[in-house]
Amino acid sequence: GKLTIGTSADFAPYEFHILQDGQDMIVGFDIALAQAIADELGVELEVRDISFDSILMELNSGSIDLGLAGFSPTPERLEAVDMSLLYYTGGQSLMIKKADAEKFKSFEDFGAGTSVGAQTGSIQEGLAKENTPDASLVSLQTVPSVIMDLKTGKIDGAFIETAVAVGYVATQDDLMILCDVPYDSEGSSVAVKKGNEDM
Ligand code: ARG
Repeated sequence: GKLTIGTSADFAPYEFHILQDGQDMIVGFDIALAQAIADELGVELEVRDISFDSILMELNSGSIDLGLAGFSPTPERLEAVDMSLLYYTGGQSLMIKKADAEKFKSFEDFGAGTSVGAQTGSIQEGLAKENTPDASLVSLQTVPSVIMDLKTGKIDGAFIETAVAVGYVATQDDLMILCDVPYDSEGSSVAVKKGNEDM
């Protein structure tokens, strides 16, 4: 009688917290999709907010039915879980502080002594290693903490999903998108436990 999804609600507009009438709620287009799936099945939706890097483990342990957190279907993940067709096609971006626009004009400017951030367990960690191999990589549990480190100058660049980066740039005057980051498995899909044909 219940569909339980695991998400990492640190990722507007995919999934994020809002206060509505003094109440903490998780909303976003992933949550709307989850609600539509629950409605279609005629069951109640339960949303669990867990750290991004443990969602797929929770899925395989059976404590959640779906992993819905803007998951890119990578070959490594497809070995561990099953994934749906893409429900959204996005892109990847490298963000910097506007104040550093003269210093960082392309990937090549992230040499030894610079640092970049990405969310722990995300594909952005791989993108950082590929595109800015000389910069040191700082992995952080949530996307807002990556952004905070960028704003306070602890890191020089941040690898962030484009839809999320666009949201930050719209509200944070000190940040900008430096460039698009090329990536092949572009887009988001829903994860289910390996072999869960019903789901
Ligand atoms: N698309 C990236 C990945 O699959 C990042 C997803 C992060 N999602 C989140 N809810 N924080 O690794």
